[in-house]
Amino acid sequence: MTNKDHTVDWSARSKRIDYARVSSLQLLGNYTRSLPISIERMLENALDWEHLPHVHASSFGAIECIDSGRWGWRARTAQPTVPGAEGVSAHNQSLELLVDLQAHYWATAILVGPAAGIEIHTQATPVAEHEIAIDVRFYSVQPVDAVHVPLYLDALRMQYALLYDEDLLLMQGRQRALDNHSRWSGNEAASIGASEPLEIFVGEAGSIAATGRMSVDTPTGRYCVRRHAGTWLVHSAMCPHMLGPLDEATVDAQGVITCPWHGYRFDLFSGKSLQGRCPSLDTTALVFERDGNLFLRIHPHSHSRRDSSGC
Ligand code: FES
Ligand SMILES: [Fe+2]
Repeated sequence: MTNKDHTVDWSARSKRIDYARVSSLQLLGNYTRSLPISIERMLENALDWEHLPHVHASSFGAIECIDSGRWGWRARTAQPTVPGAEGVSAHNQSLELLVDLQAHYWATAILVGPAAGIEIHTQATPVAEHEIAIDVRFYSVQPVDAVHVPLYLDALRMQYALLYDEDLLLMQGRQRALDNHSRWSGNEAASIGASEPLEIFVGEAGSIAATGRMSVDTPTGRYCVRRHAGTWLVHSAMCPHMLGPLDEATVDAQGVITCPWHGYRFDLFSGKSLQGRCPSLDTTALVFERDGNLFLRIHPHSHSRRDSSGC
């Protein structure tokens, strides 16, 4: 295997999987698993390059996308163990992932960096509405001596078991968020015509101040109430990007939260998306204290429902 840091000539590469070429690769072995998730979530996850350094933080330190589309993506990544790897200039892998959506098949090629020359081809097979089987095959472009194969295979299987554990949590969270989103959107549509604001009991102010935050489900959405810098704040718990769980994010000293799924950052006072890659956070609900208890006031239709499928 090579570890050369040269520039990939992306223009010379096809964006379609060359199935005929697979027989020329050396099969090292595979990793199989069944996952309690739909094929839609799995393919969405394969195309989603942005989650790598956030959901797989022990495997990836940073990612810079070179190109992406329904065909897949190309990116440079940094490993978390590289000193100063917070910037993409410290990248040490160039990756390409090609997806065949019809065939439920995707192929990842490591083109530059550690493990360059390894390709990972995955066939997903739907078993039920929310169950798939995956067959992850590890190939090498260069010949690998038989004596080294078990070593590579052990490392790859271990890494992919971890990656799929982490992806499964993301995909199940995304499915739950989509289900909630459609339920809440339905309630919101049913409330058209209502003029009275909704008032929702949150909890006892002292106990929420002690924990710093609390999530609250209302008929039209989930909110997060926070105590920050001596004041009460409330914001939608659903990220406007892909409905990530913003109530799980911690707030920094500047009043900024970072979504755990793709790292988008939001100012809690203005609701603004700081990277500008996404609509602002819904902060139109009000939180107020009465007799030592906290309440939310939500005005019908005062908050804009976000797109559930990404920005
Ligand atoms: S869901 Fe993508 S950044 Fe929040
Ligand atoms: Fe992943």
